[in-house]
Amino acid sequence: MDLSFYKGKTVLVTGHTGFKGSWLCKILLMHGAKVVGYALEPETKPNLFSQLSLEKEMVSIIGDIRDLEKLNKAFDRYQPEIVLHLAAQPIVRTSYQKPVYTYDVNVMGTVNVCECVRTHRCVKSFLNVTTDKVYENDDIPDHPFKEDEKLDGYDPYSNSKSCSEIVTHSYYKSFLKELGVAVSTARAGNVIGGGDFSKDRIIPDSARALASSTELVIRNPNSTRPYQHVLEPLLCYLIIAKEQYFNHDLCGAYNIGPDSCDFSTTEKLVKLFAKNCGPEFKYVIKSDNGPHEAAFLSLDNSKMKKTFNWSPRIHIEDAVRLSAEWYNAWVNNQDLIKLTEKQIKEFLSE
Ligand SMILES: NC(=O)c1ccc[n+]([C@@H]2O[C@H](COP(=O)([O-])OP(=O)(O)OC[C@H]3O[C@@H](n4cnc5c(N)ncnc54)[C@H](O)[C@@H]3O)[C@@H](O)[C@H]2O)c1
Repeated sequence: MDLSFYKGKTVLVTGHTGFKGSWLCKILLMHGAKVVGYALEPETKPNLFSQLSLEKEMVSIIGDIRDLEKLNKAFDRYQPEIVLHLAAQPIVRTSYQKPVYTYDVNVMGTVNVCECVRTHRCVKSFLNVTTDKVYENDDIPDHPFKEDEKLDGYDPYSNSKSCSEIVTHSYYKSFLKELGVAVSTARAGNVIGGGDFSKDRIIPDSARALASSTELVIRNPNSTRPYQHVLEPLLCYLIIAKEQYFNHDLCGAYNIGPDSCDFSTTEKLVKLFAKNCGPEFKYVIKSDNGPHEAAFLSLDNSKMKKTFNWSPRIHIEDAVRLSAEWYNAWVNNQDLIKLTEKQIKEFLSE
């Protein structure tokens, strides 16, 4: 994949201090982009943003996505040509505890980004990163969602992302199309990879158990998800933002996920992680009767494949192997910048 398009381009990434945002900024920086980030301070300690020393290589603006005035100033000052919107409250369980906050950040945050895109003529290509959870989900096994299915996520996180999609569609139809801005949304499945330290996610929970020699508790062993390595959707985001820049007919919504052979249960994922970590990693299955989360979630990725001649590169076994390699390096105090760069280079050269 040729990413030389990004060389010298100013790319604004919201959510740059998060897990996906940090990997994305690293890839962009490795390809010569001028990267401007807008997000809150990293939420966890440790966090990938600091581990990769990204603040030394890019402009990092710490601000709330709900603060339209501050976001406007960032657009005024840096005049981005490409905008990738990732900032969000992304945890399902947190959304049950803080529904108003989740809607505020995920919906009004998107309105604010769309508004800045509308009022800054520098922007040529805009991508809103949502999730595979935007669809109305009846938990029917073997039902891979297609892009034209109903948007109506169940829990406040998923539903706020459905709303974020709808906001983007309205801005596109009402303003951005006529202004000549290319706009798409990307609905990715659950991602795994090194450098995620969020709570209530299975691989970060496994890594913490590994680091502290405690037993991992698996809450939903049988829930099936289209897990994929973080580099897969990030490359797709960069492909979409680049290709639609040249061809506005490509604007739309895209599912991004693995092929069905790589859909995995949570238990299988943990077993694979254990295989890469040795006997010190231990886990137990214990349901905690938590709030509702979909049991089955699968995605139809054929539109992304057909439109961009793309296909997933990393099977689930390798996605877990790469994640475990990264967390083992973290536990053993190895050079994480070097390892992250190596994983990116190997992935892009495949
Ligand atoms: N991780 C996954 O499995 C997954 C799957 C599908 C979609 N997504 C989406 O990808 C995006 C990034 O997810 P992630 O896993 O990197 O999450 P993360 O929690 O690691 O990062 C979230 C980012 O959003 C920023 N943010 C949160 N609230 C903010 C606010 N009020 N103002 C400004 N910035 C704010 C944070 O500072 C951080 O930079 C999100 O939009 C998420 O919904 C994630």
